[in-house]
Amino acid sequence: MIFHGNGGCYDCHTADAKGDSAIGAPDLTDGIWLYGDGSPAAMFESIAYGRQGICPAWTGKLSLPAIREISIFVYSLSQNVGRKK
Ligand code: HEC
Repeated sequence: MIFHGNGGCYDCHTADAKGDSAIGAPDLTDGIWLYGDGSPAAMFESIAYGRQGICPAWTGKLSLPAIREISIFVYSLSQNVGRKK
């Protein structure tokens, strides 16, 4: 899985994707989005082009299919909110 592997997302967003406030990396599972409307397309924007120069832009580092895959993955994380309760 790219999130925990060569994508390195876990480094800032933590392995469970709940974020690390020390570096300002947001919780990706709470369904609350700083950018966009939480759709897979908005995920793609965040991941491909980066945010505020902190979340790295991944175009050129990951293939487009990989970025699409991880966009859906992050989207799916947020969709589990509420369903568990
Ligand atoms: C160097 C640390 C770092 C890494 C590595 C990183 N991020 Fe981030 N990410 C951040 C920070 C910090 C923000 C918040 C930016 C802001 O507040 O402007 C963020 C924001 C985001 C957002 C937008 C969240 C929202 O609420 O709109 C998404 C989606 C995201 N990251 C996904 C990823 C994915 C997927 C990866 C791996 C491919 C990744 N990030 C790797 C630090 C990181």
